[in-house]
Amino acid sequence: MPFKPLRKAVFPVGGLGTRFLPATKAMPKEMLPIVDRPLIQYAVEEAIEAGIEQLIFVTGRGKSAIEDHFDIAFELETTMHERGKSLDILDATLLKPGSVAYVRQQEPMGLGHAVWCARHIVGDEPFAVLLADDFMLGKPGCLKQMVEAYNKVGGNLICAEEVPDDQTHRYGIITPGARDGALTEVKGLVEKPAAGTAPSNLSVIGRYILQPEVMKVLEGQEKGAGGEIQLTDAMARMIADQPFHGVTFAGTRYDCGDKAGFIEANIAVALGRDDIGPAVRDFIAKL
Ligand code: G1P
Repeated sequence: MPFKPLRKAVFPVGGLGTRFLPATKAMPKEMLPIVDRPLIQYAVEEAIEAGIEQLIFVTGRGKSAIEDHFDIAFELETTMHERGKSLDILDATLLKPGSVAYVRQQEPMGLGHAVWCARHIVGDEPFAVLLADDFMLGKPGCLKQMVEAYNKVGGNLICAEEVPDDQTHRYGIITPGARDGALTEVKGLVEKPAAGTAPSNLSVIGRYILQPEVMKVLEGQEKGAGGEIQLTDAMARMIADQPFHGVTFAGTRYDCGDKAGFIEANIAVALGRDDIGPAVRDFIAKL
């Protein structure tokens, strides 16, 4: 393989979650459940399925529930055990000492800044970035599909999805080049272009496989859209030097940063479950 294998994943979880207030006043938005699992756990499981061995959370004040979630819960486990039940909810990778690291982003200065906060832990290796808000439902998972592409083309990869023209201002937007199956060459990137100025409607979705050089670029990255340090701007500056591709996910994305998208994700997952699916389906039919 021409590129180093992917072992590390960064989860930026420092965001304030203002769109879900008051639910997120004292609780991280990443802990909002899709049925009975917090959003962040789906992203973590997706990463582990893709072969990730080291998980790096870029966190912030008020986010300690995430650390507790990915830890043993002694009292809970003992009580469940005494009642003859098990609390078998975490993958063994998470319980291996040292495989999970937390670093603080002291101020919300943008996604690029959050990723840069993980630079010492990432070191000189490629790494994935997963935004838990983009809930990716499919088999194999989105990151695994991207790793399969990475093993062929190497370099940098982003998940790409077409969005309606009136939504392009909410996303990083790709100037697309040649297409080959699920892969699209990335020729340019712009973060949240003003309405009517987007180079296409192919948008960046919150899954990335990046080469470590992006950390150096982020080091000197000026503020961009929304006055924040944007990962998209730093990636744009890498295009000339390294291969860069978009990967179309064979599956469904739910935008859980949005209330309607969050409810849709809950309904989709609930309907697919053997235990509650039939009851939820009956209820929806009645509605
Ligand atoms: C971030 C990225 C953007 C990307 C989006 C995907 O934006 O900056 O390029 O398209 O995630 O969800 P945010 O949603 O944090 O504003």
